[in-house]
Amino acid sequence: MAQPIDRARRAVGAVRRRLPGGTATSGRSADGSTDGATEAELRTRLRAARRRLAKQQARSERLREELVATRDSLRDPFPELEVPDRVEQVIASVRAQGLSYLKAPDLRMLARVVAESDLSGREGAVLECGTARGGSAIVMAAAKGPTRPMRVYDVFGMIPPPSERDGEDVARRYAAIQSGAARGTGGETYYGYRDDLLGEVTRSFVEHGVAPEEHRVELVQGLFEDTVQVDGPVALAHLDGDWYESTMVCLERISPHLVPGGRLVIDDYYFWSGCRTAVDEYFAGREGYRLERRARLHVVRL
Ligand SMILES: C[S@@+](CC[C@H](N)C(=O)[O-])C[C@H]1O[C@@H](n2cnc3c(N)ncnc32)[C@H](O)[C@@H]1O
Repeated sequence: MAQPIDRARRAVGAVRRRLPGGTATSGRSADGSTDGATEAELRTRLRAARRRLAKQQARSERLREELVATRDSLRDPFPELEVPDRVEQVIASVRAQGLSYLKAPDLRMLARVVAESDLSGREGAVLECGTARGGSAIVMAAAKGPTRPMRVYDVFGMIPPPSERDGEDVARRYAAIQSGAARGTGGETYYGYRDDLLGEVTRSFVEHGVAPEEHRVELVQGLFEDTVQVDGPVALAHLDGDWYESTMVCLERISPHLVPGGRLVIDDYYFWSGCRTAVDEYFAGREGYRLERRARLHVVRL
């Protein structure tokens, strides 16, 4: 069905074609007028048709803005927070270098949730579990205040195997990784096949102006099962470990330490079956948390 704005456009075109220099020949035109109209009448009709078109264009622009605002607030709990240029540049650079699987709006969302922890004066560390080439962690480090501690956990090597709690989707993905067929985001070498991923990630932090030792960031190498030991408050944790066990161990060890208003952002809930199962199991019947189904799953400690 034709939209009002298309009808308004067609009406303007139809009158214009009937004016001197236009292309109309004879017969009744799309604007409803007949051949008997004088040029002056046609010009009046043209002005009216243009006014209707301008009204429809303004309406359509308003709807577009509302749509963008709704989409942003679904993705982002704090879309109103301005992301500093410095952090925008880091987002652009990690994307350009293929350092993250996350798209720019999702990296921006992470920058905002980090910034909101600072603005609200919420205490606690920022954590990331699942870092690969470092992109999302670098953005979070760039967005946080200099004194807030951050720990970044990853095996910095080959991802561990999934378990029987993961589904067929995960089994297929892991088989491709094991076969050597996996590729990085831009077709470059997959992170798990690199010889010195920890060294590369450390250099990328430095290159983006967030040298770990100067910004209270610790890169912790090893399996989450061995390394994620939390003994202080946590303001925010980005869980991006893909599989069931990798997600479950982080939920068990981190969630009890979230401060009120603290947040988990779970990257893979909609993408990998095992992650979804772990989250559903962990939060089933558990009080004290609010699940927000955004473009990524957010869990807020009440
Ligand atoms: C999808 S990648 C992370 C992507 C990254 N956040 C980004 O910005 O693109 C998942 C990472 O989690 C790591 N990982 C998964 N399970 C793990 C575990 N149990 N222990 C340590 N690292 C794990 C993988 O090796 C991989 O580096």
